[in-house]
Formats: sequence, structure tokens, C-alpha cells
Amino acid sequence: MKALILYSSRDGQTHAIASYIASELKEKCSCDVIDLVHAEHVDLKNYDQVMIGASIRYGHFNPVLDKFVEKHEQTLNQMPSAFFGVNLTARKAEKRTPQTNAYVRKFLLATSWKPALCAVFAGALRYPRYRWFDKVMIQLIMRMTGGETDTRKEVEYTDWEQVAKFAEDFGQISYKKSH
Ligand SMILES: Cc1cc2nc3c(=O)[nH]c(=O)nc-3n(C[C@H](O)[C@H](O)[C@H](O)COP(=O)(O)O)c2cc1C
Repeated sequence: MKALILYSSRDGQTHAIASYIASELKEKCSCDVIDLVHAEHVDLKNYDQVMIGASIRYGHFNPVLDKFVEKHEQTLNQMPSAFFGVNLTARKAEKRTPQTNAYVRKFLLATSWKPALCAVFAGALRYPRYRWFDKVMIQLIMRMTGGETDTRKEVEYTDWEQVAKFAEDFGQISYKKSH
């Protein structure tokens, strides 16, 4: 079985999650992990199943996500597929499901792609790596939502067990489909 994991990542956390999922799946299938920005020539027909993961920045996924999904919507709906979103709102457990995370809920409502599996993962907060403007903005948002405000800190909120479980479920969707 051959799987494709596409990701859109600005600071690396979604890429790290995509790579972790690929490593979790390596006994079940061979996985290509490709940045959505470089996916314009990818042929989905070369794969048995596909996963797309993307992070949020100032309320939005990278527009490459919508572009890719619009272009390949039909093929995506004909193969076992999965989607995950990454953001800091999801650091709160009650906002970590596709129904309760506003960004992912909105994306799923707006697209005709119907992924068989969806998840929301909490991302990472890495103040020292942000440029001045982003640092100030994120600190403001964290102050308003009761999060970490110490700009010397890097905090990874990602629940890797949740990611591993998602990888396991992804490894089983084609099986479920054919049984
Ligand atoms: C400039 C900036 C803006 C962000 N905006 C949001 C936001 O609007 N909502 C949110 O929940 N998280 C927001 N985040 C948090 C990111 O989604 C989180 O850091 C995630 O781990 C980034 O993933 P990436 O490294 O794959 O890009 C923002 C982060 C940065 C640096």
C-alpha cells in the first residue's frame, strides 16, 4: 500500500506531525510526505490513500490548501482520505475535535471533499522563534485566552498519543472500506 501525506506548515509543527504519522505507518505502507506548496505535480492516482494536514495562522489555513482540494476534489472523494488541522486553540481539549474547533469545522463545511477521517491537533507555541510583530500578537491572544504569555518560552501542546491513534485509524480506513 502506498500513502501520501501532504502538509502545509509555517513553523514546522505540522511537518513534524506529518513525519511522525509516516513513521508510525512505516510497517503498514510506504509513505511520501510532501509540502503542499510543492504538490502541484503530484499525481494522486499513484497512491492508495491520502492525508492532508495544515496549520492555522491568524485565523486561516494557507490558501494552498483550498487550491489543492478544489483542484483534486473528485479524486480525493474517490479514495480513502483524511484531514487534520493544527492550531493553538486546540490546546484546550474541548476545542480539539472537528466539531468543536472553529477553523476545522468551517473548512469542512465549506469544502465538498468528504475525508473519511478528521482530527484536530494542538500545535506549538515558540515565542523565541517569532518575529517581533507575531510575538506581540500571539502574546496578546494568549493573554486574552488564558495561555502562556512568557515570551522566553517554547511550549509544545501536541498530544502525540492522539496523533499515533490517528495514524493507526488511517492505516485501517482502506481495510474498513473493503470489508
Ligand atoms: C503568527 C501566528 C499566528 C497564529 N494564529 C493562530 C490563530 O489564529 N489561531 C490559532 O488557534 N492558532 C494560531 N497560531 C498557532 C499555530 O497554529 C501553531 O503555532 C501551530 O503549531 C503552527 O503550525 P506550523 O508550525 O505547522 O505552521 C498562530 C501562530 C503564529 C506564529
